[in-house]
Amino acid sequence: MNTAKTYLITGGAGFIGSHLAEHLLGSGHRVTVIDDLSTGSEENLSAILPHPSFTFIRSRVSECAELEKLVAGSQTVFHLAASVGVKLIIEKPLYSIRNNLQETACILEHACKHKKPFLLASTSEVYGKSSSSYFNEADDLRIGNPHLSRWSYACSKLMDEFMAMASWREHETPVVIARLFNIVGPRQSGRYGMVLPRFVQAALEGRPLTVYGDGTQSRCFCHISDCIRALTQLVEGEPPLGLGEVFNIGTDSEISIAELARRVIALTGSESEIEFIPYEKAYAPGFQDMLRRRPCLKKLLARTGSKPATSLEQIILDIAHSLGKR
Ligand SMILES: NC(=O)c1ccc[n+]([C@@H]2O[C@H](COP(=O)([O-])OP(=O)(O)OC[C@H]3O[C@@H](n4cnc5c(N)ncnc54)[C@H](O)[C@@H]3O)[C@@H](O)[C@H]2O)c1
Repeated sequence: MNTAKTYLITGGAGFIGSHLAEHLLGSGHRVTVIDDLSTGSEENLSAILPHPSFTFIRSRVSECAELEKLVAGSQTVFHLAASVGVKLIIEKPLYSIRNNLQETACILEHACKHKKPFLLASTSEVYGKSSSSYFNEADDLRIGNPHLSRWSYACSKLMDEFMAMASWREHETPVVIARLFNIVGPRQSGRYGMVLPRFVQAALEGRPLTVYGDGTQSRCFCHISDCIRALTQLVEGEPPLGLGEVFNIGTDSEISIAELARRVIALTGSESEIEFIPYEKAYAPGFQDMLRRRPCLKKLLARTGSKPATSLEQIILDIAHSLGKR
């Protein structure tokens, strides 16, 4: 029996999308990617571009002429296309807000009309200024002031969540929302402010590792393979396992950014130094960062039976290996 399905991935030439596309093709499915290559690249797709079950469409989501047909013909839509990364959001706030809202509204409408499972990639940033030690999906959310551009990413992604939830409630669109916490691994670009590829690249080149602030802020880093497993598990089944709900995806093992820099230097055998620079210099005056950002993973574990487990050491070595190969 042929059980091959067709999946549509927006933003599939990006870091997470390209790994997801590879995984689905490797499982015997057909995959179509729509990506405008604004932050992604064809290089990310180089291993799968020749695959007979793979189609790449270079377009903005909303400008893709076949969008409705592609949604209607898919088993599931993974909506990953978005403006991502603190640096990009601060440099181009208006473009980023529009991009994150309009593109989601556009494709969600088709998913709604054709009742297609729709997974929205949201972010841990929606937890805003929470001071909880674990961020729980049921928590209230506290976003910063609109005078500070950095919060527009959280807010636009949160509005995407509201749109998806409204579509589920009003029209029974089968939506699943995944709040991703610092997903890392090979192919992630450091260009838009992502800390780990930036550190590893600097360590490999013997340049200083630049820590913003005093480095006591902590994060939890989740390997891309663990993220892909969780994303695909949440849309399995009919109806999808995660139907109408929000799930944190990440790890709950925490490390300070200063310690992360030290760990990267040690594991890569680098002689780089660590440089501390104020947030204001790195981003903009009045920049606000969250001190901690740790997911509660109980819901993910209860529903899927597993939670991300790749160690930080493995993650750093994996990134170093992939950057070293370039
Ligand atoms: N990487 C993380 O740790 C992380 C954390 C939280 C949330 N997310 C979410 O996961 C998704 C993927 O993130 P990523 O880390 O792979 O980033 P990425 O920048 O590598 O991928 C985003 C992709 O979307 C494409 N894109 C942007 N706007 C588009 C548009 N209008 N039309 C078509 N393509 C468009 C870009 O070219 C890029 O390839 C995003 O929605 C992001 O908000 C990622």
